[in-house]
Amino acid sequence: MNRFSLSVEMAPMEGITTAVYRRVYRKWFEGIDRTYTPFLVANRTHKFKTREKKEIEVCSPDLVPQILTNQAEHFIWAAHELHKAGFGEINLNAGCPSATVTTKRKGAGMLDDIRALKSFLDEIFSEKEKGDLPEISIKTRVGFSSYLEAEDIADLYAKYPFSRVIVHPRIRDDFYNNVPNTEAFGIFYDRIPHEALVFNGDLKTAEDVRKICDEFPEISGIMIGRGLLADPFLPERICAGADPRGDDFSDREKKILLSFLEELYEDYERELSEATAIIKMKELWNFMAVSFPDNKKQLKAISKSRNGSEYKTAVRNGLRS
Ligand SMILES: Cc1cc2nc3c(=O)[nH]c(=O)nc-3n(C[C@H](O)[C@H](O)[C@H](O)COP(=O)(O)O)c2cc1C
Repeated sequence: MNRFSLSVEMAPMEGITTAVYRRVYRKWFEGIDRTYTPFLVANRTHKFKTREKKEIEVCSPDLVPQILTNQAEHFIWAAHELHKAGFGEINLNAGCPSATVTTKRKGAGMLDDIRALKSFLDEIFSEKEKGDLPEISIKTRVGFSSYLEAEDIADLYAKYPFSRVIVHPRIRDDFYNNVPNTEAFGIFYDRIPHEALVFNGDLKTAEDVRKICDEFPEISGIMIGRGLLADPFLPERICAGADPRGDDFSDREKKILLSFLEELYEDYERELSEATAIIKMKELWNFMAVSFPDNKKQLKAISKSRNGSEYKTAVRNGLRS
């Protein structure tokens, strides 16, 4: 916790904030209070895939597994499994906007049928009342195709004892376009207990966080995704309540960033393969590139690198202080 006693949380990002990323991130950076796994699919097989099992191999009190399903039975199965494995909270994904997910009425697709969502929540919370389930939190958008849906969704969530309601105030049809709608977040602020409410969306600087906290002073936390990928020091800056002067990383920060990126690449290479490790790092660089507006040449060299040695040289050149 920082001096504002605001919980600073790392957003789940499929393929990016993997167990490997989270472990190496935690080693080099400070300021994150909680992390979430990217979504794990709970379906009728009642088994997680090998890749998903790796996400929950190491159980810690500040790691929350996230589940994608629209079947209460499958969610309850996952909740029991994860409880047995020692997790104290699990999170329901009601925000993923991808068509492959929403056409099956999962992720943000759950918001398109509020009656089905209510039955789902009734069933999982009545199972929870029987005991032996972890706390249940939800990560949600504020509507499917219209902001007018926000009130009904917030009213529905207010009926259940969620340990956390993480609100990304966009609707599904926005994907990541437009700006987060703070008016819609206000609808949740009026209805959801503040100690459970977390804001997520487009927080890229400590100043962005300050503005949200000025408008919604009693929220319990903020969740950051792309802002943290672009500037891994962001949680630290949020805790300190200050952004750096100018846009550039300091020499000390560049050294830490380089060590972080090298260790991350090596861990991926060990766990996957050289080729896949490079793909993963290039995916990450797609998000980091905004932090290097004056390094076009170096960024191009990173994106063109064909093997580990070319990749590492390009990164070292890009971060030379
Ligand atoms: C590549 C990518 C993968 C994502 N994967 C997940 C996921 O697995 N679960 C989830 O709830 N949200 C996922 N999200 C959404 C983020 O958690 C977050 O809500 C979104 O990026 C907005 O926050 P930000 O503006 O701080 O990035 C993903 C977003 C992106 C861009």
